[in-house]
Amino acid sequence: MKKYTGLDDITDLKELIAEAREIKKNPYAFEHLGKRKRLVMLFFNSSLRTRLSTEKAACNLGMDVTVMNFNSDAWKLEFEDGTVMNADTSEHIKEAAQVISQYGDVIAVRAFPTLTDKAKDESEYVISSFEKYASVPVVNMESATAHPLQALADAITITELSQQSKPKVVLSWAPHPKALPHAVANSFIGMMQKMDVDFTITHPKGYELSADVVKNSKVVYDQDEALKDADFVYVKNWSNYKEYGKVIATPETHSDWMVTSEKLGTAQFMHCLPVRRNVIVADEVLDGDQSVVIEQANNRTFSAQVVLKRILENLA
Ligand code: CP
Repeated sequence: MKKYTGLDDITDLKELIAEAREIKKNPYAFEHLGKRKRLVMLFFNSSLRTRLSTEKAACNLGMDVTVMNFNSDAWKLEFEDGTVMNADTSEHIKEAAQVISQYGDVIAVRAFPTLTDKAKDESEYVISSFEKYASVPVVNMESATAHPLQALADAITITELSQQSKPKVVLSWAPHPKALPHAVANSFIGMMQKMDVDFTITHPKGYELSADVVKNSKVVYDQDEALKDADFVYVKNWSNYKEYGKVIATPETHSDWMVTSEKLGTAQFMHCLPVRRNVIVADEVLDGDQSVVIEQANNRTFSAQVVLKRILENLA
């Protein structure tokens, strides 16, 4: 694997999932691979799981790790070409990416969308610029439109926990007071399209995601109908895509979309975390036996580790 910025970098999903599950059984088996290799993790936004699981994955492979909170610790970056840098940006991505490539063997980046400028977000200018100017592999730790490490962890979780050869998986929108990105939903949809699952998306009318992402996936606007006989219910909020970044359906207007035990039925409950209790999902679900969110978060380590292992093997 040369890089991992999107699901298109996966050529053999079943093999990748199987390898991640083997690594989970024996996480230190490849600690020689990362000796004297350094992962540099750059965070333009907050994180708990991505930061700790990716660092753990790198350490399990014998790598050294440097973490930088870019917005508070580094110079403000300029991404535009040909700009007269006489305002608030101090360093151009061209120099920054080349310099960081001398300090790290792999660069991992988290950079969320603006949610105000759709074209800019969809250009993926932050992660694309790192890819363009860095001379080492780049890993996406959640970009403007994608969260492929999360989606791989989700695929591992469904594969591990499924009791059916072709489980019914439902992605359900749920309300949230703030404008959230589309990245997790986008990558989960892309991942389900690659897996042998019966997949349905449900959300209020007007909350359609990009047609380029949804493609031929089934969309059912009635949440109860969509959730019927589901084996896995993956719940996630996203802000409006058409009226870009707006919160039109709120926890007040759409509290009936919150997932309860009654709505869940016999399905297993998934969420990428962090999650707002009693807004997205009722306490009874998160505290109950059908919630797999903690195991899902555990699989973030093995998702990152299989990706880093493949990248390190390609560097050797
Ligand atoms: N799910 C996820 O990416 O969690 P963090 O934002 O805490 O990294």
